[in-house]
Amino acid sequence: MYTCPLCQQNLQLINRQYQCASKHSFDLAKEGYVNLLPVQQKNSKDPGDNKAMMQARRAFLQSAAYQPLSDALNQVVQNAVPSTVLDLGCGEGYYSGRLQQALSNDTTLNGIDISRAAIKYAARHYPAIRFAVASAYQLPFAAHYFDTVIRIYAPSDNHELQRIIQPQGLLISVSPGPAHLVEMKQAVYREVKLHDDKVKPEPGFSHISRQRLSYPLLITAPEQLDNLLQMVPLAWKFTPENRSAFVTSTKQISIDFLLDVYQRH
Ligand SMILES: C[S@@+](CC[C@H](N)C(=O)[O-])C[C@H]1O[C@@H](n2cnc3c(N)ncnc32)[C@H](O)[C@@H]1O
Ligand SMILES: [Zn+2]
Repeated sequence: MYTCPLCQQNLQLINRQYQCASKHSFDLAKEGYVNLLPVQQKNSKDPGDNKAMMQARRAFLQSAAYQPLSDALNQVVQNAVPSTVLDLGCGEGYYSGRLQQALSNDTTLNGIDISRAAIKYAARHYPAIRFAVASAYQLPFAAHYFDTVIRIYAPSDNHELQRIIQPQGLLISVSPGPAHLVEMKQAVYREVKLHDDKVKPEPGFSHISRQRLSYPLLITAPEQLDNLLQMVPLAWKFTPENRSAFVTSTKQISIDFLLDVYQRH
């Protein structure tokens, strides 16, 4: 199922080691994932989200704050009756974990992320899903391997998406809507620029539907908001004083997601 990140030949699992015909090999970690990110593809020693970011996201997602998004996503994927699904930039596996519960056993679920800390966590917690450390820009999968790819707030490369998704297959993409976390922006910017809601074209795909999911999130504890802050790129805009004032005084945050479905030509 995997291809070699160095020479693109198929990998075979032999004695807990993935090997290609040219004898490149990649060990299966004790948690059950494989690291298919060669040093040449790393832009830093520890790319992607670090452990602290991953743990903050985990704690936040466990509060069920984004469960409506996960449920909406599961519904869209279930309707497509997929057989092979990839969660691109899956993080610590919250969405794929819940998706796996919602799907029948006939569906194979894969997740990749460039963060080793996140994949390690995901593999330990969701043994029924296949996880690999890999880059979204050079995916270790054969052409047309997937009929469905989900991409939640994660980077991607259109050529790679075109390559790995079968004709008629789906790309399900989640991105922030205009009002998403607007209160956080108001706390740090004098003039707030809202996310635009234009549909982003994906060459090779037709856009077939959009669902907008907006709701106020009632903050149950300052720690919940602090975790959310740590997940988003805005965090560094806050001074420590601003941040603590913001998390103790804010009781409600706007959530606004766009769920777009594209179909491969
Ligand atoms: C904002 S997080 C979203 C994670 C998850 N989809 C979620 O919504 O909980 C973005 C994820 O993309 C990963 N990432 C960043 N650059 C990447 C790359 N080049 N290839 C694969 N994953 C990458 C990060 O490690 C992080 O887990
Ligand atoms: Zn190889």
